[in-house]
Amino acid sequence: MRRKLAAGNWKMNGLRAALSEIEALAPKAAAAPGCDVLICPPATLIAPAVTAATGSEVMIGGQDCHAEASGAHTGDISGLMLRDAGASHVILGHSERREDHGERSEDVHAKVEAAWNADLIAIICVGESLDQREAQNTLDIVGAQMSLSIPDGVTGLNTVIAYEPVWAIGTGKVPTTDQIGEVHDFMRARLERRFGAGVGRSVRLLYGGSVKASNAGEIFRVSNVDGALVGGASLKAAEFGGIIEALA
Ligand code: G3P
Repeated sequence: MRRKLAAGNWKMNGLRAALSEIEALAPKAAAAPGCDVLICPPATLIAPAVTAATGSEVMIGGQDCHAEASGAHTGDISGLMLRDAGASHVILGHSERREDHGERSEDVHAKVEAAWNADLIAIICVGESLDQREAQNTLDIVGAQMSLSIPDGVTGLNTVIAYEPVWAIGTGKVPTTDQIGEVHDFMRARLERRFGAGVGRSVRLLYGGSVKASNAGEIFRVSNVDGALVGGASLKAAEFGGIIEALA
């Protein structure tokens, strides 16, 4: 019932030459009709990426947006600007934003509302640090981040939640499938409790953290995993294509 989603987060990687990777993804997305394919390039590449993806199934998203629609905020980009450039989604509350820019869940909450107001689908990231996992606080942390970061206006399709354990990002370390399943089942139950079964069941839940073509199949068999938010392995169409294939 939920469509699968393979989302690539290019982070601060990609010059114009990388647009050819988006073109190369087009046939891979076409071969996976049950799976949505999204690339979130750096802001400088959003408009040309939309052009490169024209006529294909590949969607383009942003990696952050400001909580306001316009104004005196040097260096920031609004949800409205992302939408105007042709983006359909925006990643919000990534742990690198929380860490590098001091974003709190309350800030993420405001950004999600701005994204919705701009007609963007919000991909809200949550996840525990290694210390928090070792102290067995994972579910408390993820639960608190969800409560504070997710506004009341979830309709189902306007929101995606990405579980990204901080210790698994870019490290090659992946939680066990039991660990992923425990958190995803917990997130699903929380969404159903807060928003009702219909809405709670229609929100897609992604796993993120060292996903690659070779481990994607195993991760995607875990219950309540509807796809992945992929960093490093999304930079090359050949590798990301393997992840799409595993989902399709
Ligand atoms: O947002 C995706 C990300 O944080 C995971 O990165 O490089 O471990 O796939 P990576």
